[in-house]
Amino acid sequence: MLQEKAKVLFNKKVGHSYFRIGLTCHNDYAKAKPGQFIMVRLSDQKTSILPRPFSIHRLIVANGRMRGIELLFKVVGGCTEKLSKCRRGDSLDILGPLGRGFIIPDKYQRIFIVSGGIGVAPLFFLTSSLRTKRADLSTCELFIGGRSKHDILCIDDFSKLDITISTATDDGSLGRKCLVTDLLETGIKENRPDLICACGPVAMLGAVARIAKRYAVPCQVSIETMMACGIGACLGCAVKGLDKYLHACMDGPVFDATVLKI
Ligand SMILES: Cc1cc2nc3c(=O)[nH]c(=O)nc-3n(C[C@H](O)[C@H](O)[C@H](O)COP(=O)(O)OP(=O)(O)OC[C@H]3O[C@@H](n4cnc5c(N)ncnc54)[C@H](O)[C@@H]3O)c2cc1C
Ligand code: FES
Repeated sequence: MLQEKAKVLFNKKVGHSYFRIGLTCHNDYAKAKPGQFIMVRLSDQKTSILPRPFSIHRLIVANGRMRGIELLFKVVGGCTEKLSKCRRGDSLDILGPLGRGFIIPDKYQRIFIVSGGIGVAPLFFLTSSLRTKRADLSTCELFIGGRSKHDILCIDDFSKLDITISTATDDGSLGRKCLVTDLLETGIKENRPDLICACGPVAMLGAVARIAKRYAVPCQVSIETMMACGIGACLGCAVKGLDKYLHACMDGPVFDATVLKI
């Protein structure tokens, strides 16, 4: 875990309220795991004194060398609004990589990846690192859902990884007009996966966990909670486990779905 001043490499609007920001970082981020996150603090203390958590969306590598990390974020409040205004060369305080990421044993070949809204951010890193390790993702499938076509991100990037993609939107503006979990269940009935990996709103993760249990498929979910410190000091990120509270920043944010009450 490293605390450092990062420089903004780029900041691009990629949809109605979504941005991709590239940040310089220490070379050690080359060892970051999909699902891990960083805490970002803006230098403008008026916006917020608390840092904010963001998943690592991808590693920026050029000529075999780590150049930085990319975040994909949605503007929802003061910090993300301010982040969207950052320009190349601006400085941010970052702390990371933090938390536990997805753990994918080699024995799991058929993997279903389920994304809801901005939950796609860590799942692109997961899918691209699977592609790097396995070369062939023909046994894996991506189920991606959002409110409308404006909330379905990274389709072109995923297509380049040669993974089968199914989309669902609440308003039917892209893909099937249904919940992404409906697509997941149909996919499981057709060809049961070895593992499900999911990230999205808590209600969606709860539905994914119940489906996984019903079909006895191992499942890992990445949970988004409020986080004030990211390092186990504030107890603000507590999530209900089966018999005790767990800390999303240290015990997660990726959990085996069976240990959570969601
Ligand atoms: C491990 C982790 C990884 C994350 N990765 C990403 C990412 O890759 N991209 C991204 O866009 N966002 C991500 N988030 C969510 C992001 O941290 C919040 O959107 C951000 O903190 C909002 O800050 P703000 O000041 O703009 O909004 P605020 O003013 O703090 O909040 C605006 C609204 O969003 C809600 N909110 C804020 N934070 C969260 C949260 N963590 N979970 C649920 N609701 C929240 C608030 O209740 C409020 O309604 C992640 C959160 C966690 C815990
Ligand atoms: S965010 Fe402070 S303990 Fe988890």
